[in-house]
Amino acid sequence: AALKTYNFDIQVKNVSRLCHAKPIVTVNGMFPGPTVYIREGDQLLVNVTNHAQYNVSIHWHGLKQYRNGWADGPAYITQCPIQTGNSYTYNITVTGQRGTLWWHAHILWLRATVYGAIVIMPKEVTPFPFPQPYSEASIVLGEWWHADVETVVKTANKLGLPPQSSDAHTINGKPGPLFPCSEKHTFALEVESGKAYLLRIVNAALNDELFFAIASHSMTVVEIDAVYTKPFTTQALLIAPGQTTSVLVKADQSPSRYFMAARPFMDAPIPVDNKTVTAILQYKGIPNTVLPTLPQLPAPNDTKFALNYNSKLRSLDSPQFPANVPLKVDRHLFYTIGLGQNMCPTCLNGTQLAASLNNITFVMPKVGLLQAHYYNIAGVFRTDFPDNPPTPFNYTGAPLTANLGTTLGTRLSKLAFNSTVELVLQDTNLLSVESHPFHLHGFNFFVVGSGIGNFDPKKDPAKFNLVDPPERNTVGVPTGGWTAIRFRADNPGVWFMHCHLELHTMWGLKMAFVVENGKLPEESILSPPKDLPPC
Ligand code: C2O
Repeated sequence: AALKTYNFDIQVKNVSRLCHAKPIVTVNGMFPGPTVYIREGDQLLVNVTNHAQYNVSIHWHGLKQYRNGWADGPAYITQCPIQTGNSYTYNITVTGQRGTLWWHAHILWLRATVYGAIVIMPKEVTPFPFPQPYSEASIVLGEWWHADVETVVKTANKLGLPPQSSDAHTINGKPGPLFPCSEKHTFALEVESGKAYLLRIVNAALNDELFFAIASHSMTVVEIDAVYTKPFTTQALLIAPGQTTSVLVKADQSPSRYFMAARPFMDAPIPVDNKTVTAILQYKGIPNTVLPTLPQLPAPNDTKFALNYNSKLRSLDSPQFPANVPLKVDRHLFYTIGLGQNMCPTCLNGTQLAASLNNITFVMPKVGLLQAHYYNIAGVFRTDFPDNPPTPFNYTGAPLTANLGTTLGTRLSKLAFNSTVELVLQDTNLLSVESHPFHLHGFNFFVVGSGIGNFDPKKDPAKFNLVDPPERNTVGVPTGGWTAIRFRADNPGVWFMHCHLELHTMWGLKMAFVVENGKLPEESILSPPKDLPPC
């Protein structure tokens, strides 16, 4: 195993998009930030030095950080932020994962500009379980605001309103020619006729699930969230914030220029957002004067496509990469997702939008939860997060009042070491139903089932896929529906779980698990690093 070192200098840089320059927070002055390349089994050291005016922390989205929450990064969950002028080294060992992940700032909305891809190459002795591509490229989808994002958020919060949606979507930081003034801010990928390419697609957008397609070219999905899948071919794909998808694309069309494009999947009535970001698949030798064609993307509200696409995702489940789905469940959890106005009577006198899990709106602590747990600091959090909602009701019926009123709290759920957990996430119809991409830190989970309407504990488990369900770290809970996941709580520590729509995280759609230590020393949380940032 090799040791890989990266230096991340958090610095403010003027960047111009849509004919408008503004200072943004960056890593090393780059937007998007650098791609981190590692090989499975490597040790990764990232020295982060903060020269911005904001306190920061960096999360390595999808890396399991076995026993090592100290390197996970969510501010006030596993560490206090790195203050201006200070540094912290994330010391990460990458085991049992290979594929595409990403890193991003995990405080405020700084991930709007502070993000980049992580590429984990397989061990040299274990090649890809699919044909070796000729070459590869990262396709990182993001969002861009004209105004300073932190100001946008602060202003909206003062008024008790949702912040305005972004002014553009981006591919590798570039909006593409369909946006005003963006001709020169267009990402182009040069390909050679007849060759196959591995595209590592990341959705780093703050608030939008996205459809993605390439004109005239089909894509073969081979890996999601750094787990190999049974390959399947598709004309378009759906990717939620936090998720990654690797596809093989063959340059097998007549040599020309083709648009790749992404646009939001928006099945909620508000906010309407249908901006299309484009980049170019450019065959070698074709002049830039050739006008590219646009791909067909599913309609913004094409829920059918979304359900169908997600149902095609399966773990590879080969002898070499078996899907170890927990068959027996030690702990059953059922969490309702609430979102709406006046849900939280104590938030801005009930005028602020709030979100909740089992009617609890999560309150961020002032010190890191992992530290509080490790050092037994009393009074920081409680471990009485309920396994079920306070009262069962018709979750997805007509707009509800039954779910009104949440309580504020820093409440965690305690899991025994190595116990197996089944969690059903149930969307509810309060203000309106909406799809929620849920992300669990510290683990991958198996998506064993999903459906529209209310989860039926008597009938639905019989239909679970316990053979080759997709294994991932972020899953979309369908609009007005439910998703069931299973995982083994074999990673001691404190692990955040939240909706990866930044807006919803901010409104409280989050909680954390405390996984207890096992009996053996090698089943316990590692000791904290000396340079862990103080609060
Ligand atoms: Cu990618 Cu807690 O986040």
